[in-house]
Amino acid sequence: QTIYLADYTVPAYHVDSVHLTFQLHPTATRVTSKIAFRPNPESADRAFYLHGEHMKLISARIDGQPVDVSLTPDGLTADVPDAPFIWEAEVEIDPQSNTALEGLYLSNGMFCTQCEAEGFRRITYYPDRPDVMSVFTVRIMSDLPVLLSNGNPTDSGDGWAEWHDPWPKPAYLFALVAGDLVAHSDSFTTSEGRDVALNIYVRADDIDKCAFGMEALKASMVWDERVYGRAYDLDIFNIVAVDDFNMGAMENKGLNIFNSSAVLASPETATDANFERIEAIIAHEYFHNWTGNRITCRDWFQLCLKEGLTVFRDQQFTADTRDPAVARINDVNALRGRQFREDAGPLSHAVRPDSFVEINNFYTATIYEKGAEIIRMLMTILGEEDYYKGLTEYFDRHDGQAVTIEDFFACFGDDDPRLAGFSRWWHQSGTPHVTIEQAWQGSELTLTARQETPPSAQQQHKEALPIPLAVGLIDADGRDLTPTSVLMLNDTTQSWTIDTRTTTPAWRDTNASASDQQNSDASDAPTLSLNRGFAAPIILHADQSENDLLRLMAHDSDTFSAWEAGRTLALNTLGDMARGIKTPSDAYVDAWCLSLRSEDRAPAFRALASALPSTMDIATHLKSQGHTPDPQAIYDARETLSQQFAEAAQDSLQRLFAQHQVTQSYRPDAEQSGKRALCGRILGLITRLDGGAEAAKQHANADNMTSQLTALGCLIGTEHATKSLEAFYQQWAHERLVIDKWFGIQIGQAAPADASKVAKFLTEHEAFNVKNPNRFRATLGALAANTAGFHTAGGSGYALLADWLITLDGINPQTTARMTSAFETWAMWDSARGEKMRVEMKRILSTPNLSSDTTEMITRILG
Ligand code: ARG
Ligand code: ZN
Repeated sequence: QTIYLADYTVPAYHVDSVHLTFQLHPTATRVTSKIAFRPNPESADRAFYLHGEHMKLISARIDGQPVDVSLTPDGLTADVPDAPFIWEAEVEIDPQSNTALEGLYLSNGMFCTQCEAEGFRRITYYPDRPDVMSVFTVRIMSDLPVLLSNGNPTDSGDGWAEWHDPWPKPAYLFALVAGDLVAHSDSFTTSEGRDVALNIYVRADDIDKCAFGMEALKASMVWDERVYGRAYDLDIFNIVAVDDFNMGAMENKGLNIFNSSAVLASPETATDANFERIEAIIAHEYFHNWTGNRITCRDWFQLCLKEGLTVFRDQQFTADTRDPAVARINDVNALRGRQFREDAGPLSHAVRPDSFVEINNFYTATIYEKGAEIIRMLMTILGEEDYYKGLTEYFDRHDGQAVTIEDFFACFGDDDPRLAGFSRWWHQSGTPHVTIEQAWQGSELTLTARQETPPSAQQQHKEALPIPLAVGLIDADGRDLTPTSVLMLNDTTQSWTIDTRTTTPAWRDTNASASDQQNSDASDAPTLSLNRGFAAPIILHADQSENDLLRLMAHDSDTFSAWEAGRTLALNTLGDMARGIKTPSDAYVDAWCLSLRSEDRAPAFRALASALPSTMDIATHLKSQGHTPDPQAIYDARETLSQQFAEAAQDSLQRLFAQHQVTQSYRPDAEQSGKRALCGRILGLITRLDGGAEAAKQHANADNMTSQLTALGCLIGTEHATKSLEAFYQQWAHERLVIDKWFGIQIGQAAPADASKVAKFLTEHEAFNVKNPNRFRATLGALAANTAGFHTAGGSGYALLADWLITLDGINPQTTARMTSAFETWAMWDSARGEKMRVEMKRILSTPNLSSDTTEMITRILG
């Protein structure tokens, strides 16, 4: 059943207060609710409808009198007075059998909740929609030692605790936790002088893994005060780590619940990448307190209102806390790997969609990551000052409300000529392709940009978008001839001209088309640096010469664009190699070696710049040039080029490896992790030459997980693999999050022909657990991410994933549906592969009682 934005109506009733009492029991929890309803004068509708699923109604009363209700498959209706009234109900729910991990469930003996988007309706009958906001008081009764809910603790006694949240909130932000937990505690005084108690609650075994998360939390609190002027608003802020969780984390008011993988870290058990991700997710959930909680979404079509904005805020935080260029490269890699891929396939949808079946299926890279890119462009176009002015206006105008993207946009002055057409970014799906042509006349350069967004299944007709093109121009020595200029491409085609010989060259609009002019073949002509900082989320076709790209790679003052030039060279080279039409140029191999050694760039940057584009990136690149990608050929090309790089850099590898070793005690900061990342890249190259001797040494001696896991990854496929994998397992058998890595790395690093065999073998391992989303993703998700291994010609990867998705769907529909996106690329490959993928999807679809989540996804992917 499809839900449309156009059908939105205001709620028929307001809720003035909510009182909940929980008598916790693993299989029979009693929930008593007392809810004050008031007819909404703005609604003509007087029908009283409450959502409710998977529960047993014990009793219901209105104003103290028992009332007859009519149960529907997903809720109830009743006759109610035409005046304010009190609804009271008692229901029974079964947390233990709740393997969907939505609503109230049990995870390793601990009660916890996940209510976004529509989980609260599995806890009690309620108008479970984000525009119904109310004040909650919660009483928890249980013998478990720690009993938590939202807001401030008000009272407690033997076997019970009471919480009150003074800030009106929608039900999706409700949370409850009860368990045998211990706290890592700290405190924070806000800029407004409020003393806040901070706690990270975990199982006793994990108490040594909380310190980093706590530091990240305090840093986030300071940052939001400093940058956005937003201070925290309760006396306590609690975080709880949960082992079984569908997503990363959840921003429940005052009680954030985290997937343990997104908060727990110690140097011995977590990698640098884990630390960085934890810092970003802690920040993200904390930032939601203002962008999501104080101001929330009117309806779920507005999800990007809180997610896109909050992702942008956490990206800003990471850029401020670590290396901004490295942060941007990581953002763009993620955007291309997940969002561009989504937007190019059958699941393409607008950042603000106008219909959906299952809202859980819309927690997508498009809504999160492209949503964040839109906010970034807003800042690029308006400049920082006007951007922050608009945000302040948004906080002033809409605090305490549930609003829309239009409300948000209006805070920036929607009639501002600089923002003409900008809202199209939220409504139009697909990634714009921008083609750049350059033409020289003497010292005058004319740049012509043409944009096109290909039609998608949902939207045939696409319009031109306002695209901020951040452009630089460098001379042969790499000096900037102009500061970065933002040229606004508002139409389908536009041209700009610059005279490069004037003392301060500046771009001006031109009407002339570039076509009748000449390309400059002078080698000293300046080079364009395009889409600096990836200011716009577009696919660029600039057809720059190898010379220009080499110059940008070596000299561009915009570090992102220097990396981008190297990536373009790598894509061109690997694409040609995979098609068997070219071998790498000497100039490119030399430049690559030079960049690996370059003392001018930070080690973290050199680690990223020396990595090759993923197999999927190369496949996408080939597809965009009109070729059918062959995953095995791409894999082979990557192997060949890596081997060639290793041999070309042979003489400096040991020296670089020794030079960048970290000798101080472990810190997960940008500086140390950059060195380890570079050493990790070098160790991979050394392994190609020494068969794994150096990596085996590092694996055996490492005192931190980054070095140990990097070494283990290098060893897969060498003669040391079996022994090292066995030793690693023995060492870490008691640490779930480390064992997830052990599952993931074996499958992720497996050669194409082995990947599905290894994955199948590991699904039969005693430590495999289909009910734990982290373990399932570490296994089947790793298979799907091993592009050449998942897409082997025989189709064994497809069949294995389909088998397991069929099994998981009966247990956890949300995670199943999410992972069906492994099939979204079916149209990209040759017809034999595509057909095999479709056959497996149809097999999933024919499963009796398949969830609506998975049904919607597969149906959309099949098209
Ligand atoms: N709002 C959470 C976050 O981005 C995501 C929770 C989504 N959960 C879900 N079941 N769809 O931080
Ligand atoms: Zn979020």
